[in-house]
Amino acid sequence: MRVNRRMTATVATAAVLGLTLAACGGDTGGEGGGEGGGSQVEVFTWWAAGSEKAGLDALVGEFENQHPDIEFVNGAVAGGAGSAAKDLLQTRLQAQDPPDTFQAHAGMELQDYIDAAQIEDVSDLYDEFGLTDAFPADLVDRLSTEDGAIYSVPSNVHRANVVWANPTVLEENDIDPEAQYADLDAWIADLEKLEAAGVTPLSVGTTWTQVHLLETVLLAGLGAEAYTGLWDGSTDWEGDEVTSALEDFETLMNFTNDDRDGLDWPEATQMVIDGNAAFNVMGDWAVAAFEEQDKELGTDFTATPVPGTDGTFDFLADSFTLPVGAPDAEGAKAWLETVGSLEGQVAFNKAKGSIPARTDADPAEFSEYQQGAIESFANDTIVSSLAHGAATPVATLNAFSDATSKFTTGASDLAGYQSELAAAAAG
Ligand code: GAL
Repeated sequence: MRVNRRMTATVATAAVLGLTLAACGGDTGGEGGGEGGGSQVEVFTWWAAGSEKAGLDALVGEFENQHPDIEFVNGAVAGGAGSAAKDLLQTRLQAQDPPDTFQAHAGMELQDYIDAAQIEDVSDLYDEFGLTDAFPADLVDRLSTEDGAIYSVPSNVHRANVVWANPTVLEENDIDPEAQYADLDAWIADLEKLEAAGVTPLSVGTTWTQVHLLETVLLAGLGAEAYTGLWDGSTDWEGDEVTSALEDFETLMNFTNDDRDGLDWPEATQMVIDGNAAFNVMGDWAVAAFEEQDKELGTDFTATPVPGTDGTFDFLADSFTLPVGAPDAEGAKAWLETVGSLEGQVAFNKAKGSIPARTDADPAEFSEYQQGAIESFANDTIVSSLAHGAATPVATLNAFSDATSKFTTGASDLAGYQSELAAAAAG
């Protein structure tokens, strides 16, 4: 069934009644197919394959424990960082054909859906599921409007500014795998060495992974405060600091694999796993790919902050929404309950490489890498990811991506690139 906005209140009321009945031992699956009665839930994500799917599967496993009567329907659309999913989602939302719940990044990306009245306030569910104090206040702020409405339930927190390296490749080229680079220049000196030895120094993939690299280079060059100023207008996009960060980005891109535009993140990271590249900059979903292949931190791979960004946690969080007109709003609410639960967050994050958004999970349940990330998230300066929806609306990110693709395929020069980024940021 498809509902329009005017029908939503009725559906929502029915769904709340349904949940109450369920809590009293009633049958959540009682109403049958697609009538908003909690018989199924279509979950829209971009976790379609590999270690990302393994993360989703772990969450689904816990969902099935908690809600055995509700059928999980996988609406995943392949393409890292939602590179294909977000456009398709927008088409569906505009056609009044929403999934029951969809993945959205905390921050400005979520704000887009709020502004377009495409998602519901779920603050009642925070009360009902006891989530009000479960998450850090800063994170809840990124899911909320000023009037106290909360629009999604976060599943995790990822760190974007991580360099993954293959220690064997480094050792073979007389580079100390334990070296901590103070800044990008020190790192670039070793990348030059690798290049001269005929090794791919740095692997990267298609446009969104290049934007991901760009954001970490901006962070390294500008520092946390000026980087944050890029998103609130207080840092000048046309300024010299940005020019020199873009020069560094250009230098780094010159050290990357030629086939980059045909690769998504799993293939680019796999080059490091296989010893076909020395370094890769990627968010910490990458740790799940290493671990899935039985690689051990310290021995088979290293994970360190992007040079020049130590002490800063480049943040993003996935969260799940209740779309306006969700065909099975009760199924969606059950999904949100599992996403927000301690058990759901532990199961999901152990497999996904991220850390729980909840503050009450026991760090001892997680890998060595994740324990470090938990500590860093608690103590470091937090900044917002560009490539993963925290810093800008989707339209701005799309304009950044277009400008970046032009630059890295040689269709614009550095000055042109900088002007296009400035124009994108100005909206
Ligand atoms: C991010 C998302 C992560 C991970 C990554 C690669 O945008 O937040 O959970 O899936 O994309 O696809």
